Amino acid sequence: MKRLLIPLIVSLFSMNASVFAHPLIDVIPEPNSIVYGTGSFSLSRSTSICCPNKIGKLGKYLKGQLVFFTHLNLRIRHARAIGSNLIALRLDRDFKGHGPEAYSLDVSSERVVLTAGTEEGLFRGLQTLLQLIPLPESVVNGIFGIPSCKIVDYPRFAWRGLNLDCVRHFMTPAFVKRYIDLLAYYKFNVFHWHLTDDQGWRIQIKKYPKLTSIGAWRNEGNGERYGGYYTQKEIKDIVAYAASRFITVVPEIEMPGHCQASLAAYPENACVPGPFQVGTQWGVYQNIYDPAKKSTFTFLENVLSEVVKLFPSHYIHIGGDEVPKNEWEQNAGCQKLMKEKGLKNTDELQSYFIRKIQKFLESKGRQIIGWNEILEGKGPRPGAVVESWQGIDGAIKAVRKGDYTIVSPGEYTYLSRDADDLSLDSVYSFDPMPPGLTPSQQKRVLGTEASMWSEHAPQRKVDSKMFPRLLAIAEDAWTSQQNKNYENFHLRLQDQYDRLAYLGVDYGLEQRGMTYKTEFDKGKKMFTVSLKPTQAGIILRYAIDDTLTMSNSHRYEKPVSIDTTATFIAQAEMKGKLAGNPLVLSFMIDKALGSRVNLANPYSPEYTAGGPQGLVDGIRGTLNFKDGLWQGFKGTDLDATVDMGKKRKLSELGAGFLQSTSSYIFMPEFVQFFVSKDGKNFESVGILKNDISERDPATVEKDFVINFRPKDVRYFKVVAKNIGACPPWHPGAGAKAWIFTDELFAN
Ligand code: ACM
Repeated sequence: MKRLLIPLIVSLFSMNASVFAHPLIDVIPEPNSIVYGTGSFSLSRSTSICCPNKIGKLGKYLKGQLVFFTHLNLRIRHARAIGSNLIALRLDRDFKGHGPEAYSLDVSSERVVLTAGTEEGLFRGLQTLLQLIPLPESVVNGIFGIPSCKIVDYPRFAWRGLNLDCVRHFMTPAFVKRYIDLLAYYKFNVFHWHLTDDQGWRIQIKKYPKLTSIGAWRNEGNGERYGGYYTQKEIKDIVAYAASRFITVVPEIEMPGHCQASLAAYPENACVPGPFQVGTQWGVYQNIYDPAKKSTFTFLENVLSEVVKLFPSHYIHIGGDEVPKNEWEQNAGCQKLMKEKGLKNTDELQSYFIRKIQKFLESKGRQIIGWNEILEGKGPRPGAVVESWQGIDGAIKAVRKGDYTIVSPGEYTYLSRDADDLSLDSVYSFDPMPPGLTPSQQKRVLGTEASMWSEHAPQRKVDSKMFPRLLAIAEDAWTSQQNKNYENFHLRLQDQYDRLAYLGVDYGLEQRGMTYKTEFDKGKKMFTVSLKPTQAGIILRYAIDDTLTMSNSHRYEKPVSIDTTATFIAQAEMKGKLAGNPLVLSFMIDKALGSRVNLANPYSPEYTAGGPQGLVDGIRGTLNFKDGLWQGFKGTDLDATVDMGKKRKLSELGAGFLQSTSSYIFMPEFVQFFVSKDGKNFESVGILKNDISERDPATVEKDFVINFRPKDVRYFKVVAKNIGACPPWHPGAGAKAWIFTDELFAN
């Protein structure tokens, strides 16, 4: 034991102040309180697990975990915890902790004692213990030193979940169980299982076999028949597996929208005549359940009757999000029902639907969870849980009404978003408790959960999307606000990376892999690109005018010079593989480079392309309108005069634009080009009308280029006419339309 202590003391003395901040205990989520002791407990093959018979399952679980984490196969003694060299589990009904998941963990050189008032509390405490034990590669002589300490811990929130979408991509039962173990390790207690949607139905329902024989399969664009489902036997097995880890499995059965796969199997439940195909596109399908037919509810109640038998969870998630109500507006049956029931609009028809299902589930002793849209119209019956994904307004509204909430705003908790777009520190900055609530309203905030929507994440990609950011969610949900500190979390995370690797987790990046800077040398007509990695342990790779792969790329060591029109691609390498999204910089060398630009209308402060010179910096924008390379004009025209500083012979002028109508960005109606010798008198050299359809849903880039007889001029001008407002057919009809431009060029 002393031998273990000495290196610790030596290293403490040799540490400088900043390293002192490095916690000895790298547990995530950070426990409520830790008092450090002196010395450490030596876990070795002679240590025994001491655990009374009545919690024998927990003893066995610990034994199995220790085999995995230490390769030690310890003896279990079903005796009272006396003596030394043992790990004792104590279930103490008089334990004074905060809530059922509280525990205390006492590590001394003599023994480890874990105490809690419930088995659940013991289970959470075991995870802390497992994270305190060093990994085998850092251990000599088979002795695992656990630092002496006393930890008293309990969670801030009772609901700490992960919503895994197993519809858009099917995940195998083994993969689901692996995630349940990973959730347990970070003290999550809810597995929210997204099982039905437009693109698939993944739960066997014995009364309706076509739900899976038809609804679980879709025809992919490449001719593949893609799908899968969970049999009731597999589901029971997964639910029991989770229960043994004190994780509740909450199924989500979507209604009244997001049900195209169900309607493909049973088209009679739709508002419009079928047949329907299981969805093959991402996005929201228009076909929804028909509430005017009694048989629709009979169907859903029969489905839910089987669901509640499989899932003992008190809560059943019924979706309720993103319901396009056009069909209800058009449908005579729905209109008649609305009249009969005195429902003023289709939002109220939705509440009628939700309330009917809620009442049915209440008759089975269950309560509903629905996404925040269930608040529309008259809202649900009292007692519902509103999961707020569109910001936190739904959460606030729900608890003010006396209902409950899970606070999961997509901007912080949707780990399906790229780390470029939702960084680790943003996820960590999230406080699930909305501001301004009274103490009794705060009690109705159950907690938070991460969501992993799998449109762009087949099973093999899920790890790299979820980790390391899921650890930030773990701490958002468990750790008290005053114990949260990003720098400290980030230090602990560095050690957790070794644990994740040991667990076989293919974790991804914390954020965009690199920052970059470009410079242009006007004399040499040369660009220089400098890159900087954003986290430890990553290498940067690049390629010029070529595809970037691990073998077909250069390792970035120093700034790279580029003196022709070319595309520079860089990407991070982590653990010997490319990680995160590539940085794509397309350079263009032309006569306008480095000129002065004068704008008649200012660009938006949100989209600056790097500032006033952004339109003549020679760097082209990418299809990502938020890449920082586009200049945006909201509702106004682009009207730019460019002064090249001296006369030049020009025969070509051009300007680049982007269209992304879902973001209200449209091509200009037309672009007109002018030249001038003196900057006062301008001569038009041509006008180009847009030929890209405003209904094209894709993001499109287009250069408007005009050629003319050579002219000696110092100035040119580009006027791009904004269409003004989003057209009448557009969801944002009447709102100001944007023009996005990345470059003005001359040759
Ligand atoms: C959701 O993201 N539609 C809940």
